Amino acid sequence: MLSKFRYPVNLIKSRLSYPLHVDFLSCVSFLFGSIKSRIKYDNYRLAHYAYGVYEGARRAKELGLKEITVIEFGVANGRGLLAMALYADKIEKDLGVKINVLGYDSGEGMPQTAGYKDHPEIYATGDFPMQDRNKLIYILPKNTELIIMDLIKSDWTASLKAPVAFISIDVDYYSSTIAILHYLTALNSTLLLPNTLIYLDDIMMANHNPYQGELLAVEEFNAANNLRKIVDFSKVLRSTRLLANAPWINHMYQLHVLDHKVRNEEYRSPDEPPHILSNKYLK
Ligand SMILES: C[S@@+](CC[C@H](N)C(=O)[O-])C[C@H]1O[C@@H](n2cnc3c(N)ncnc32)[C@H](O)[C@@H]1O
Repeated sequence: MLSKFRYPVNLIKSRLSYPLHVDFLSCVSFLFGSIKSRIKYDNYRLAHYAYGVYEGARRAKELGLKEITVIEFGVANGRGLLAMALYADKIEKDLGVKINVLGYDSGEGMPQTAGYKDHPEIYATGDFPMQDRNKLIYILPKNTELIIMDLIKSDWTASLKAPVAFISIDVDYYSSTIAILHYLTALNSTLLLPNTLIYLDDIMMANHNPYQGELLAVEEFNAANNLRKIVDFSKVLRSTRLLANAPWINHMYQLHVLDHKVRNEEYRSPDEPPHILSNKYLK
């Protein structure tokens, strides 16, 4: 019963730190706003999925792409995947970019921990099993595919048809995360955006640190790759957000694909005039 009120209570608490006019505009957006405005005011329950899918699709559209993929690694009972799928459906209609949603999970819950790097003090073998796979598949919208696989043993990129614009990683362990990231090393750059957004779920508890868990996997990925780098996006993102205290911002990263065509060509063709910076004192 109490959990029924948890979302509205948390929503109100999270808004107390903002000026009243922002709270007022946020209420107006909640009641009457477009998707863009609802994302601006964090008016979706799982705001990081809404932002990630929208921003990924927006970037893709800017590049002239017609279709993208967004991914949830670690599905459990599908709370996040379902939210991602519902937001993707609305965003697809709004931006006119086709969005394929993929969810990957073993269905068995957490695999065997492999030492301290997997944070066995927080996560344990068998946690978070998928309880009713068929029912979950039944309730997922048509834009979404649930792929059952052990991510440590299998290549998840085989099912990709369109560039990956947003990835949510919620597999808790170092060993599962490094296995996922490994396949980003050799993935053809046409199957990525020049900067693909990544949400890292398991990085903000007191025990999380760059020597264990998802953060260690990112450190090792970066050390092993010269032209693909995963970098914290929270500082840049916070500077652009009206509701800059939202905790999800701290989880946002980007995969910078330095070998992407877009990152290796001048943005302006030589026959276009150069940009001029004005200075009124020179007039
Ligand atoms: C915390 S749960 C995910 C919660 C989910 N994102 C949600 O919104 O409720 C972590 C999930 O990661 C999955 N997982 C962890 N390591 C995996 C691996 N190597 N292969 C496949 N699934 C894995 C587990 O089965 C578990 O369901």
